Amino acid sequence: MMRIDIITCLPRLLDSPFSHSIVKKAQEKKLVEIVVHDLYAYGKGPRKQVDDYPYGGGAGMVLMIGPIVACLEGLQAERKYDEIIYLAPDGPLFSQQRANSLALKQNIILLCGHYKGIDERIRTHFITSEISIGDYVLSGGELAAAVVVDSVVRLVPGVLSDLTSALEDSFQNNLIAPPVYTRPANFRGLEVPAVLRSGHEAKIVAFRKEIALARTAARRPELLPSHEQYNTGDKA
Ligand code: ADE
Repeated sequence: MMRIDIITCLPRLLDSPFSHSIVKKAQEKKLVEIVVHDLYAYGKGPRKQVDDYPYGGGAGMVLMIGPIVACLEGLQAERKYDEIIYLAPDGPLFSQQRANSLALKQNIILLCGHYKGIDERIRTHFITSEISIGDYVLSGGELAAAVVVDSVVRLVPGVLSDLTSALEDSFQNNLIAPPVYTRPANFRGLEVPAVLRSGHEAKIVAFRKEIALARTAARRPELLPSHEQYNTGDKA
């Protein structure tokens, strides 16, 4: 079973994201274990301090190295971790490829920063990699961790009942997924494309592929060259 440990000074922020839908089912099926750790449990002194003023001055507080390392070392004493990942806006951008590779790991730690950030020595000496979920600044790493967990967990083998549904996602082959429709076939004159109702499998595959290519060209043209390199098979 894959295990994901999340270290945060705001554990309550993560109460809900893992308690619904696919991520909830993955835990119930014992395919993934997600454990949230409250950094304050490792805080210094009677006030359980976890942050302090920055050396050299400046605005904002910095998460201290001691409590984070205490938490990390407690976890590492229990099991071996494949990756210790810090969520940070200045890290490498998250991608479907990165999610795919994380889904194959056994144990990972996600460390959430807050305030102005974390003591740089944690990044240089204890973290094995970093992830940004986009070029914007969140008030902490928690929502980013929830994004990473959600995208990774649904890829863990056995989590989605229909394996092909993950393979056909947007970005899996560097194409945007084609549109989907369900009943009714006609809603106030808005019709579902006839080919999708034709029952003609080959035509449906061709239609979806054509739209996926057209949409990718229109919306994300920069993906197309890597699609052509990548694409060996035929999946839209
Ligand atoms: N923490 C703050 N902003 C972030 C971002 N964009 N990605 C990951 N972690 C963050």
